[in-house]
Amino acid sequence: MLSVIAVFSVCFPSLCFLFPQAALKKTPLFDFHRQQGGKMVEFSGWSLPVQYKDSHISSHMHTREHCSIFDVSHMLQTKVHGRDRVKFMESLVVADIAELKDNQFKAAGFDVDLEFLDEALIALQGPSMSQVLQKGLKDDLRKLTFMTSTLATVFGVPNCRVTRCGYTGEDGVEISVPKGRVVELTEKLLTNGEVKLAGLGARDSLRLEAGLCLYGNDIDETTTPVDASLVWTIGKRRRQTKDFPGANIIVPQIKAKADRKRVGLVSSGPPVRQHTPILSPDGTVIGEVTSGCPSPCLKKNVAMGYVDAAFAKNGTNIQVEVRKKAVPAIVSKMPFVQTNYYSG
Ligand SMILES: *[C@@H]1O[C@H](CO)[C@@H](O)[C@H](O)[C@H]1NC(C)=O
Repeated sequence: MLSVIAVFSVCFPSLCFLFPQAALKKTPLFDFHRQQGGKMVEFSGWSLPVQYKDSHISSHMHTREHCSIFDVSHMLQTKVHGRDRVKFMESLVVADIAELKDNQFKAAGFDVDLEFLDEALIALQGPSMSQVLQKGLKDDLRKLTFMTSTLATVFGVPNCRVTRCGYTGEDGVEISVPKGRVVELTEKLLTNGEVKLAGLGARDSLRLEAGLCLYGNDIDETTTPVDASLVWTIGKRRRQTKDFPGANIIVPQIKAKADRKRVGLVSSGPPVRQHTPILSPDGTVIGEVTSGCPSPCLKKNVAMGYVDAAFAKNGTNIQVEVRKKAVPAIVSKMPFVQTNYYSG
């Protein structure tokens, strides 16, 4: 049995449109968030905490220096069963699924069944994650390499799936937990002084500092992996077999280069937000910002967006138009803040 975990929903949050609901959906931690002072907001049809009692910035810094729990139960967790599961997944994505080992994000097909897991999902992210989590695990966490997963009992809660991944740029795990016991597990983790709760605000600035894309903002059905500087996601074998969606456009683009590119931007002055126009030094529009925020770590505004390929080189001087004013900005390599994924 193979599992596709959170990454699936990072890539395809638009699947939510398949399940429209009038009222906001609640995760199994909804009441707990409110008890903890969570400020609940709407996010993709879900009610989730944007922050707790701590400010967004202190939550962000706490994650970079210690570790934080994020409720990511809104993400669709899917298991794909069946003979054609690998073929099926390869019909959806550009990665080399056949090459993945069991318990990597491996999945599904034509002779396939999709199973949507009705479980909670929490992310524990930050440099002290392994020290915190190891206390509640029998297995040696050092053996759980980046992007692999294992079934485990965590602090006495059985049937948890622990995956070494996340979206903050730090070492971290996502833990799929039976719904009825997620509050208990969260409370146990919080008894460690290293651990605090963090909300959507910190999640967004952490992932942006790490240069990670948010589907719907930074990538969507109109962008190719080449435009998005995500060529590394296309498996070598699949560049040969050219059997993924859009291959007839994407494969030639790899050689020819794209007309536009996703780049990082750094600016001072007012913060840069989604849809801010990007201008050349002479004021011509050359692109648009797709995500932006003040960086708590760098104390500068960071953003990502698409520009004409001629302006995509690191260090290129450009401008962003904020409140009708052209503000100088500079094209920057991403991640903006060094990432610390587990490499052990
Ligand atoms: C990118 O450009 C900046 C100058 O804007 C420079 O300081 C930095 O070293 C460059 N980084 C790389 C990786 O080339």
